[in-house]
Amino acid sequence: MLSIKRMIAPPTIPRDVFEGKRMTYWKKCGIAFLAFTLNAACTLVGPTTWAHDDENHTHETPVKVPAGITYAPTAVPDRIVLTWAEDPTTTQSVTWRTDTSVETAIVEFATAEDGPLFVNHTQEKAAKSETLETNLGLAKYHSVTLSGLVPNTKYVYRVGDGVNWSEWAHFITASDQADPFSFVYVGDAQNDLKSHWSRLVRQAYSDAPRAAFLLHAGDLVNRADSDAEWGEWFYAQGFIPRSTPCVAVPGNHEQSKIANEETGEVTRRLTNHWERVFEFPSNGPESSRESVYWMDYQGVRFIGLDSNNDVESQAVWLEKVLQDNPQNWTVVTFHHPIYSSKRGRDNSELRDLWQPLFDKYKVDLVLNGHDHTYARTGLMAHGSEKNVPSGIRAQSEIAGTVYVVSVSGPKMYELGREPYMQRVAEDTQLYQIITVDGDELRYVARTAVGRPYDGFTLTKREGKPNQLVENVPDTPERVRPEADVAEAEPVKRNADQVPVVTSSLRLTNPEAKDQDDLCVWRDKQSPEHSVIIASDKSANRLFVYDLEGKLTQSIEVSKPGNVDLRYDVPFQGEQIDLVAVNQREDGFKLRLFRVDHETRELVAIDQGGIATGPNYGGCLYRSAVDDRLYFFTTSKEDGCEQIELSETVNGFYTGKKVRHLDVGMSEGAVADDQLGLVYVATETEGVWRFEAEPTGQPEGTLILQIGDNGIQGDLEGVALSYDDNQIRYLTVSDQGSNTFHVLPMVGGSSTYRFSIENAEETDGIEVVTDSFGPKFPKGFFACHSHHDESCPILITPLPSILNALGTN
Ligand SMILES: [Fe+2]
Ligand SMILES: [Fe+2]
Repeated sequence: MLSIKRMIAPPTIPRDVFEGKRMTYWKKCGIAFLAFTLNAACTLVGPTTWAHDDENHTHETPVKVPAGITYAPTAVPDRIVLTWAEDPTTTQSVTWRTDTSVETAIVEFATAEDGPLFVNHTQEKAAKSETLETNLGLAKYHSVTLSGLVPNTKYVYRVGDGVNWSEWAHFITASDQADPFSFVYVGDAQNDLKSHWSRLVRQAYSDAPRAAFLLHAGDLVNRADSDAEWGEWFYAQGFIPRSTPCVAVPGNHEQSKIANEETGEVTRRLTNHWERVFEFPSNGPESSRESVYWMDYQGVRFIGLDSNNDVESQAVWLEKVLQDNPQNWTVVTFHHPIYSSKRGRDNSELRDLWQPLFDKYKVDLVLNGHDHTYARTGLMAHGSEKNVPSGIRAQSEIAGTVYVVSVSGPKMYELGREPYMQRVAEDTQLYQIITVDGDELRYVARTAVGRPYDGFTLTKREGKPNQLVENVPDTPERVRPEADVAEAEPVKRNADQVPVVTSSLRLTNPEAKDQDDLCVWRDKQSPEHSVIIASDKSANRLFVYDLEGKLTQSIEVSKPGNVDLRYDVPFQGEQIDLVAVNQREDGFKLRLFRVDHETRELVAIDQGGIATGPNYGGCLYRSAVDDRLYFFTTSKEDGCEQIELSETVNGFYTGKKVRHLDVGMSEGAVADDQLGLVYVATETEGVWRFEAEPTGQPEGTLILQIGDNGIQGDLEGVALSYDDNQIRYLTVSDQGSNTFHVLPMVGGSSTYRFSIENAEETDGIEVVTDSFGPKFPKGFFACHSHHDESCPILITPLPSILNALGTN
């Protein structure tokens, strides 16, 4: 019998680094890392006693394995994916990854047989190898295109270095006839690939295991250059891409942000992962880097476009590819929809450039992503959306193309329904199985559990437009409930005729004394389980409440000031939702917490806090230029400090003052990450706007003066809200008039003013516009109130406010 020691493989020591996060992890494990591999150590040793950071006392808190370990390459091939760089009838491409120690990379292949004896007559082909430097280190990618294969034939192959091999897996060449086949199409996978997308892609595989390929319409990952996310993308699919080829086009999330060091200007380009991970045809326009191409498969021309870049030059190329197309069917895929399913995300440039070509050359089907909802049209031609009556069902004589937006991952947006949409869904993960069989194309969309959700059939007719027959299953439409607004109630007004809106939830608890500021953490998976974090300077506590108003956590912080939050911030190799609050006693500090997604509680991650200069309030800012994280502290007398938060070698955040802003006594502040601006409210002057990058001017612009628009001062809490039209509103609490002013910052022109019943001398406010489940399906406004002793936080559904303002 093998001893446990023998069963555990000798350690694979990452070559490049034994420092930083990896080392920290091993230290935390409190074991000699040479003794065991990671998996073995963590699964076989039993309840591990972890050494604490000071290594003096121990506890049993599990430690997250850093991504650099989970996704480290080894000499054993992984991330194996079949694609086609050339003709699918006679070629097959395959790509895989290893660590950089691998010098020899080959594919062995043979015609598949019923038993194992194919190994006696294999052929081999050497790979072309390239290194890729990622945020987790160096790796090598190897690719081979096998050619001269026999059409419609099952092959067996493996990849490796002659010693470390993959398993033998199958692929099948395409037929050189227009034989029937199916393929699976998915929209954005993008987020939580391991935890959430995996079940969808596996359900799709179990429903269509013989699909010729899996087609991705962009946003495969969320962060283009995150090697861990690419690792999750492969993990989620398991062996599927080793036997089912992948066809994909890039989304906006496959674009790397590149900042010009001198000018600070940010440009975007396709991530280097793309060309390493995939081998797509190089028949696109020059410089398209395998993101624009066409491929014929059994009677269908598939055209992949890159809607992120150079859309005009692609139109010229597209016309040539459509003109010279002998195939019976034409399917086009790209990321940004021709018919967007979310308001404010219209892509009219694409529609005007590409759709006339789809019409002219009778493209049958266009497959898009990007909008994180589902929407499928009838037959549409350029401009027809303006006069399509709703409810075209059954058959249609209209010429045009069917357009689909779909989503396969868990990130969900609100739907903007239009009359020409034949079937829509919100909050639903879907995959689509499309079968082409002679003159018939059959389309079925299924939800993550395999439930049929949409269907239609297109039929080719001699000299006539395609016939579209709707085949929508009985499954009820999945859309969010309408906001619960008491419409009939007359709007109350105060003496100045300002609408007074009644809140629907009051957050307080016996310990509460003055809940001065707050922030909201949205649980993206189940928004109804989101929490509100209040900072109480008199109780010396942070309070966490659920959306039912129940206090779920109370943490001690000495005289906390303003509390703010950012999602998906890097911390010790993973991404966390970071909560920051300034502390005003026991030393001026910045305190940092993460939100535990399971318990929805705050967990301190700051080793006691980061020292700052004198502070009063402040806000977080995350640069869109280079992803750096900052906190702006406001103060009673000495302007604002911009503090850069960066991770140290031991994986914790440290703070460094990088700039001083000249501004008077201030408390409330809010940053616009996208536009690189920070707004600071001073009690006596108004609201100042500053450039938020550390290289920006230290002087601000007074964009809102006390006295304007009936603003009396002092100004306290500020909140920023914006929609996809890029219209940004700043909401300001005007204590002098006990009202809230809503002012357009960028785009938009109307100003609004409202008050909340029983909200007096309000300090902190927050506006959230996403869905927060059945109680707050369209967001809410939260504000502190000095009206009674406990200083509650009052929560008001946004539709109630919009209704009172007459803008709903
Ligand atoms: Fe997306
Ligand atoms: Fe997108």
